[in-house]
Amino acid sequence: MAQLTSSRSAQWSSRWMFIFAATASAVGLGNIWKFPYITGENGGSAFVLVYLLCITLIGLPILISEVLIGRRGGRNPIDSTRIVALESHRSRHWQLLGALGLITSFFLLSYYALIAGWAGHYTFGSLLGMFKGLNAQQIDETFEQFLADPLQLIFWQSLFMLITFLVVSRGIKAGLEKTIRVLVPGLFLILVLLVGYSMTLPGFLPAMDFLFKPDFKTLTSQSVLVALGHAFFTLSIATASMLIYGAYLSKEASIGRTTVAIAILDTLTALLAGIAIFPLVFSYGLEPGQGPTLVFKTLPIAFANMPGGHIIGGLFFLLIVLAALGSAISMIEPLVSWLMQRGSFKRISATALSCFSVWFVGLGSVLSFNVWKHITIISNWTIYQTIDNLVSIILLPLGGFLLAFFAGWIMTQSATHDELNMKYNWIYYLWRFLIRFITPIGVFIITYRLIADLVS
Ligand code: TRP
Repeated sequence: MAQLTSSRSAQWSSRWMFIFAATASAVGLGNIWKFPYITGENGGSAFVLVYLLCITLIGLPILISEVLIGRRGGRNPIDSTRIVALESHRSRHWQLLGALGLITSFFLLSYYALIAGWAGHYTFGSLLGMFKGLNAQQIDETFEQFLADPLQLIFWQSLFMLITFLVVSRGIKAGLEKTIRVLVPGLFLILVLLVGYSMTLPGFLPAMDFLFKPDFKTLTSQSVLVALGHAFFTLSIATASMLIYGAYLSKEASIGRTTVAIAILDTLTALLAGIAIFPLVFSYGLEPGQGPTLVFKTLPIAFANMPGGHIIGGLFFLLIVLAALGSAISMIEPLVSWLMQRGSFKRISATALSCFSVWFVGLGSVLSFNVWKHITIISNWTIYQTIDNLVSIILLPLGGFLLAFFAGWIMTQSATHDELNMKYNWIYYLWRFLIRFITPIGVFIITYRLIADLVS
């Protein structure tokens, strides 16, 4: 094929390495903060059941498709989507699907790094005893003052981007794999420690009730939509991250089994995070439904008032930083691989250029919390809100829909059948049915709801 100017990418050293890397990508703020909170709000275990169903029927089939396209192409996201489309005698313009993923991860990382930076600041702040003895109002003020200081925010955002650069510039084996080998066990270790601590608190049983006691009365049609949207976000679909990680997966590994492992590990961390967080909330009489401020304003109140709270708090924020780092690596890698293969950049310069550009665009979000607070882009959204909404309302659902469409209707059945190489044929046909009919409808409903919410 004349289009193949680049050769296949390097590979993960094992199937487990891929599972770890993809899990590190999937586990993020979505698991540690959002999942516990929406679970509590939407009926506990009844919601968990619906969420598991959404992961299985919508999330998993798209995850499988993304890894499948990546491995079939074996290159950077743009080349891979083009090669796979051409193989099925379809238009080369399908490479725009790869480009869409690159653009999405670029903008997502620009503000993800900012929030990771907040957690970095809070890790050190906690360990140094910054919150000791403060009351709720003082903790609130501490956070607001921090947001109002552009230099501090830039410092932490830059530090996080620098660490991401250091990891990714060393390449797949010496950078990504080495880091992920420490990061994933580290994440689980911290989680287990925090869960162990929370089990000793008086709020443990009420928290378990809150999280797991089935209450179908609080389960509304709205809850189902929340579960659907979250199933989509939490698996890191549609940002080309899983596409590039799939390209590094060996041909022998089973895509079905590895992706199921990723979905299980991702869900497990989300549940463990809930079991770690809510006993704190209930033991200190705090409000569980605080939304975005739960992590930075509510939990520090508990840390400020408990014995050894600076250590527990420090560990908790470190957990968030590590989770965000695993995600950040996977958001920059698609762009780096593209620059290397198509722009003939060396890895170090490709990473430097990518990280610098993301950092630079991210400054807009940083400043929109202080000096550019009053500048609005669309309706009354600040720069940060505009980019966040652009990503989560338009780019992610669009990417998910197109991935499903591509795998279900553009690729030939023989290509997907061959690449998935499922042990049982009926599983293949189940996947194909889901991806052609059920998944696109699911994604359409999420998008419709997001836009309807926005307009109302
Ligand atoms: N899954 C991540 C979380 O739960 C967020 C996320 C969405 C992501 N898309 C991504 C992370 C792409 C890395 C790459 O927080």
